[in-house]
Amino acid sequence: MGETSKLVGLSLYDGARLDVTEMFQGFMFPGLLHTQESLHCAVNFPFQDTDIIIATYPKSGTTWMQQIVTLITSRGDPNIAQTVPNWARTPWLEQIYLKDALEASSLTPRIFTTHLPYQLLSSALQGSKAKVIYVSRNPKDVAVSYYHFHNIASFLPNLATFQEFLHQFLEGKVSPGSWFDHVKDWTSQTATMNNLLHITYEELWQDLHGSIKRLSAFLQCPLEDDEVNNCAKHTVFSVMKENKMVNYTLLPDNIIDHSKGSFMRNGKIGDWKNLFTEEQDQYFKGICESKMKDWPSEFVWEV
Ligand code: A3P
Repeated sequence: MGETSKLVGLSLYDGARLDVTEMFQGFMFPGLLHTQESLHCAVNFPFQDTDIIIATYPKSGTTWMQQIVTLITSRGDPNIAQTVPNWARTPWLEQIYLKDALEASSLTPRIFTTHLPYQLLSSALQGSKAKVIYVSRNPKDVAVSYYHFHNIASFLPNLATFQEFLHQFLEGKVSPGSWFDHVKDWTSQTATMNNLLHITYEELWQDLHGSIKRLSAFLQCPLEDDEVNNCAKHTVFSVMKENKMVNYTLLPDNIIDHSKGSFMRNGKIGDWKNLFTEEQDQYFKGICESKMKDWPSEFVWEV
């Protein structure tokens, strides 16, 4: 990848379609980054067996995993992770600049990112041996992180209060729909898809080295101890917060209002306790219990 790869997508971030919401097969997506054509292209994407796909609900540790996978496939060498923006080296399948990113990159293996619900990608993944890493996070921390992100991202609706946002989040009225359905649909595929690994933000947080080893084994890219150490060194929060290739400071203020907050905001577990009231916690628990009652999986959410 050369210098031009840094510009991939940036020319499209000109502020057009800021107020547009695309509805696609019942799911909503911000129009700045998605069109019917880009979404159609994603759901029909011809994966190669060597591809790696990072699938997440927004604010679950997507950028962190993009950096970890980049470092693993670079055997701990930070060059690409420090010189190529995450969106150019691990592009979102469903976003409008995918074609440009693919044309600008000669990196192998190809690494893609997606926030699409499983049901939209299931047919494209059918029969594919592409490796899929699904990252989930405590939904209360996701809700808090997403609320703050709505306040700095001009392409997402600005909801005045956390109460209002929480309501929309629990009703599945944010992009790309219900957190509960997203997590249930993706993680339930682990029963039949042996090319799918589910890992949580909390597991990464508790044991970054162990998680890197687990991920590198899954990706069939076993690493020496010093390579694992290098991967970890460049993927800790404090280092990523200063890395322009992942902290989104390359994006102009009309897209991300940097004066209102940072993308690399806090990077902790349990931050929800600083925002949720007791009443909101009860409201959340009630909805969570009913939505997740038939779901066997257990998260490591609190440490
Ligand atoms: P907070 O807003 O709670 O700080 P995504 O990349 O899916 O949009 O998720 C963004 C969240 O992941 C933000 O959470 C961000 O700070 C956090 N994050 C990014 N890199 C991280 C890292 N290396 N360690 C811990 N958290 C990280």
